[in-house]
Amino acid sequence: MTKQVTFPHDFIWGAATAAYQIEGAWDQDGKGESIWDRFSHTPGKVLNGENGDVACDHYHRWQDDLDLMAALNLRAYRFSIAWPRILPAGRGQVNPAGLDFYDRLVDGLLARGIRPFATLYHWDLPQALEDAGGWPARSTAEAFVEYADVVSRRLGDRVQDWITHNEPFCTAFLGHMIGVHAPGHNDAAKTARTVHHLLLSHGWAVPVLRANSPGARVGLALNPNEVVPASASQVDLRAAAREDGIRNRLFLDPLYHRGYPADVVERLDVEYGVRFDFVQPGDMDAIAVPTDFMGVNYYNRTIARDEEAPNNLPPAITVEGNEHTEMGWEVYPPGFYNLLCRLHFDYRPASMIITENGASYSDGPDAAGRSADQRRLNYIRDHLAEVRRAMDAGVPLNGYFTWSLMDNFEWAFGYSQRFGMVWVDYATQQRLLKDSALWYRDLIANDGFALP
Ligand code: FCB
Repeated sequence: MTKQVTFPHDFIWGAATAAYQIEGAWDQDGKGESIWDRFSHTPGKVLNGENGDVACDHYHRWQDDLDLMAALNLRAYRFSIAWPRILPAGRGQVNPAGLDFYDRLVDGLLARGIRPFATLYHWDLPQALEDAGGWPARSTAEAFVEYADVVSRRLGDRVQDWITHNEPFCTAFLGHMIGVHAPGHNDAAKTARTVHHLLLSHGWAVPVLRANSPGARVGLALNPNEVVPASASQVDLRAAAREDGIRNRLFLDPLYHRGYPADVVERLDVEYGVRFDFVQPGDMDAIAVPTDFMGVNYYNRTIARDEEAPNNLPPAITVEGNEHTEMGWEVYPPGFYNLLCRLHFDYRPASMIITENGASYSDGPDAAGRSADQRRLNYIRDHLAEVRRAMDAGVPLNGYFTWSLMDNFEWAFGYSQRFGMVWVDYATQQRLLKDSALWYRDLIANDGFALP
């Protein structure tokens, strides 16, 4: 028995990438150093000492990559702009070659009928701004607005879909609390200040983008998660509420005009002595500026368990039997439906777009050159079925981007994790369509797919 899953004909089908993960050319044509250049060049930070110096060499191969996108019937492409290509020192002097690169890329997309979705910040802060205090400093939020202005003045006539930030949770917590991402800090106060300045810079940039790009749609890409308590014990319920606070409400509440969640603010104070004294009059209104869409990046759910509490019940939820990707992430498609419904019913965004979804599996080409990545195909298919189910429940979803178009540099994991629908042979830079890419191409042509 198969079931046909169909989507509206104008649904936005795309694939996503990010500058540092694919471009390479890290020091070419006037580009400044970014925090990811610095971080990956620091021994011990990235698995196997790898870095994005060359990555997929997309900076030089972008035309071929655009042809690949066209061959996949993509209607949209989500890419990010490298801030240090545009403003090598973070602010001030503009590097014309940097702007030219994205100008050509955008024209190349439009010539192929592919709609550009531009992300302004996908984690590669100019190192000069980090040296001046980074995101914990309010001046970085001001610099971001300058950058957004420069970029949208140049591209705003042709780019009509803007994403200010990608996953502020990761920038704040992975970069400033746990330190596994650039710039590698372990500091709760810096983390809280980073959260605020990321959100503030988003709020300040939205009107600038609207002014320079009339009629454009503007949003940001969050990575909220469905958080499930491992059991019904009081301590697990509390662990889930805490996780939901940090992961979801700390970002969603201020963006949707509810201010920072009191329980999270209190906990940061009690446990880390962090005071939200960096919030200035007018900031919360600026952050809550209306947007056109909420971008959602989703991979897996979170199961919250208080490991330290004595006599905690054994977890009622176990995941051992479930499939996991090579990142170790549980495959649990219904969590996607639950999350999308929660976001819609709790926050009522004007619309929603899935800005990332995908899976890491290293299934590579066989002797005949075929990459039978059935597990990725299943992952995408089953998650799309949940997207459709959420739409049927009334969630206003109008687009979906796979992560990722092609295999690329997976941050602290280097090249060990492959998320692409397109295989990249890093030695030769050859690209090869995996089965999932061919399936996606047909899905787009048919406005849907068959679910076994
Ligand atoms: C997301 C990032 C993206 C990629 C995927 C796997 O958190 O936005 O760049 O690394 O995870």
